[in-house]
Amino acid sequence: MKTAKTTLVKEFKVGQIDKRIYGSFIEHLGRAVYGGIYDPEHPLADEDGFRKDVIESVKKLNVPVVRYPGGNFVSGYNWEDGVGPKELRPKKLELAWGVTEDNSFGTNEFLSWCKKADTECMMAVNLGTRGVDAARNLVEYCNHASGTYYSDLRVKHGVKEPHNIKLWCLGNEMDGPWQLGHKPAEDYGHLANEAAKAMKAVDNSIETVICGSSNYGMRTFGEWETTTLDIAYDAVNYVSLHQYFDNRSGDTASFLAKNMDMERFIKSVVSICDYIKGKKHSKHTVNLSFDEWNVWYHSNGEPFEKWSKAPHQLEDIYNFEDALLVGLILITLLRNCDRVKVACLAQLVNVIAPIMTENGGRLFEQTIYYPFAHVSNFGRGSVLHQVIDSPMHDTREFSLVPDIDSVSVLSDDENELTVFAVNRNATDDVLFEIKMIEMDGMKPVEFIQMSGHDVNAVNGFDASPVKPVNAGLPEMSDGRAQIKLPPLSWNVIRFKK
Ligand code: AHR
Repeated sequence: MKTAKTTLVKEFKVGQIDKRIYGSFIEHLGRAVYGGIYDPEHPLADEDGFRKDVIESVKKLNVPVVRYPGGNFVSGYNWEDGVGPKELRPKKLELAWGVTEDNSFGTNEFLSWCKKADTECMMAVNLGTRGVDAARNLVEYCNHASGTYYSDLRVKHGVKEPHNIKLWCLGNEMDGPWQLGHKPAEDYGHLANEAAKAMKAVDNSIETVICGSSNYGMRTFGEWETTTLDIAYDAVNYVSLHQYFDNRSGDTASFLAKNMDMERFIKSVVSICDYIKGKKHSKHTVNLSFDEWNVWYHSNGEPFEKWSKAPHQLEDIYNFEDALLVGLILITLLRNCDRVKVACLAQLVNVIAPIMTENGGRLFEQTIYYPFAHVSNFGRGSVLHQVIDSPMHDTREFSLVPDIDSVSVLSDDENELTVFAVNRNATDDVLFEIKMIEMDGMKPVEFIQMSGHDVNAVNGFDASPVKPVNAGLPEMSDGRAQIKLPPLSWNVIRFKK
């Protein structure tokens, strides 16, 4: 049998995981809000119109932060349209996605939903069609206690206590020509800088995220980050990265190597942040917010009725190989947890999402739901340095792809170790040998696995065959575990003292 080996040393840590690396995203897009988290006519809707079954499913994912309200949507959004008495809220053309937005759901509704779903809001402001003034007013509306125009307006709208939102995105994908109000890097850099300064003047406890590139393949990638950060470095805490993956060519081997590109993307953005830091002799560090990532291609081009409300849009149905790539992406994010502090699986419900609903009806959990739930629930603590000696293979698009990719997380009390591993080899078992140093008494207690499915197998409302199972506990002696990882498998091996 092929063998891969790694050694884990308790003291050798990449860094503490910021739990916000397990964030997600709800945009006013398709049926994410209307018919997703909010469906007042649904038999399981609570007094606020929130679907209780969706909240339960979200809670199992243990998502600590959810980005809102966009996405491309935010670049044309007037936040004032979504607050106050519902009967007075305007219906508007939503230009990013070609639909009608009736604004029956807005900021305060989302913040109530967050409380019920045990999560926090990562709020985005509109720096496309709007600017500094609307942004600082929204911070005042959300975070100032009372006694000013906007804070009192919130109180008048029935929300006495401030929302205290800590994390703020300075627009969305402003490098993208498709974005409403898209600007050249220099213009956006100045706008982001001034907006962040004004927003922090309202509440100096907030953190801001400047828009980086919409994806690694953007023609302006690199220049965009360098120019905007050079202007706004001191006013921002994070730079955003977005990336979606596809397997349009039907080449599973190359698809499952695509997290290697993601790793290069992360390393390049870290270098740019630190270049600007060095150039400015700054003590301030700008970290990374990978606030949109997922597989997205199954649903592309689906027709919908223009200017309708909440049509079916971007409703990807995920298969087994997508679950494997999502596992690999999570491994990559964790491996870089010293710099990636925030990340958002895009999105959360119905729109390129792990949870799918029927309007007024059932829900099901997609294949990608499971690796995310495993990592979010068990990946809390510190990531250990991990060099893996693995067999390699080449694919059509990538060379030297390790069969085994893996990351290991030690809990804060150092009594629990969880190893996440994917075997990308399509035909062979690989024996994964893990040597543990200074971790006496660690014993395997659970081995969760997803394997043996056709790469195209999917879940649905009527049947969900692609689910994790418990595998037999691995052999362990002299601080060494030996674990057989089947071909094309997602593996979660939990050890405890
Ligand atoms: O998540 C879907 C869209 O993808 C978002 O609105 C946008 O930011 C990105 O291009």
